[in-house]
Formats: sequence, C-alpha cells, structure tokens
Amino acid sequence: MAISVTINGTAHSVDLPDNVPLLWVLRDAIGLTGTKFGCGIAACGACTVQIDGVAVRSCQVALADVWGEVTTIEGLGQPDNLAVIQQAWIDHQVAQCGYCQSGQIMNAAALLAETPTPTDDDIDAAMQGNLCRCGTYPRIRAAIKDAAQRLTEV
Ligand code: FES
Ligand code: FES
Repeated sequence: MAISVTINGTAHSVDLPDNVPLLWVLRDAIGLTGTKFGCGIAACGACTVQIDGVAVRSCQVALADVWGEVTTIEGLGQPDNLAVIQQAWIDHQVAQCGYCQSGQIMNAAALLAETPTPTDDDIDAAMQGNLCRCGTYPRIRAAIKDAAQRLTEV
C-alpha cells in the first residue's frame, strides 16, 4: 500500500516496501539527489535531512517510520532565494569536493534552529557525526558562526 510522505512541502504517494530507507525514497523514487549516500550505517552524515526540523540520517529511517515533514537540501532554499546558511557556505567557500556538504548544511541548519548562537563547543558537538574527507571543518565552523550572526541580526 502506498505511503504518503510530505517532502519539501509537497505530498508524495510512495509505493515502496515499508522498510525502504528514506534516503532511497528521496533519491530513487522522488529524484532528489542532493542527499547523498556515504556509508549506509549512520557513520558519516552524508545522508542527513530534516524531519520536522530535526536532523536525521535518512539511511536509517524506514519509509514507514517517517513521522513528519521531510526537508532536504533542495527544500532549504532555491538558487534565486538561498537560505542564509547556504549563502554563508558560499561566502566562506566551504565546499571542496562537495559530497558531504548537503548533509553538513542540513545538520547545521537544524543546529541553528535549536541553538541560534552556538559556541564552538556547540558546533563541534552538533557536527561531529558529519564527516568530511576533504577536511573542510574550519570553514564549516566559520560559515555556521557567520550564518548565526546574520540570522540573529534579522
Ligand atoms: S549514508 Fe547515512 S550516515 Fe552515512
Ligand atoms: S567537501 Fe569533500 S567530503 Fe566534504
């Protein structure tokens, strides 16, 4: 039986087995390929999306267990209307190969929603599960702090 899932504000009827990971629903059924597969075992964070604003590893959430509205990197902003965090990422030239970055941004956005003015320790604690083989961690931290400042000035 098809399962209804709301993704980036649009309701989708997904006719896949209950236990299919949300990651593959997003990428293969819906065509939202901004969310990446890294490890498949909750160890890298590349697949991070938000459900009701909470950062989750989409490789670990079964379709039947999706409890709320899903937001992916495609839903965070648009090329002509970027989210503040996305603009900060560009301004700080965070991405190198880019593979981990959608997961990094989705986790960072969830952090800022929960903790508008994070300390370095807050950032490190929140982001430690999002791995970057290119070592962009210093720029990630700088972009998060910059986005926090911009958001609290609004
Ligand atoms: S692919 Fe989900 S945490 Fe690595
Ligand atoms: S930018 Fe290459 S893995 Fe993070």
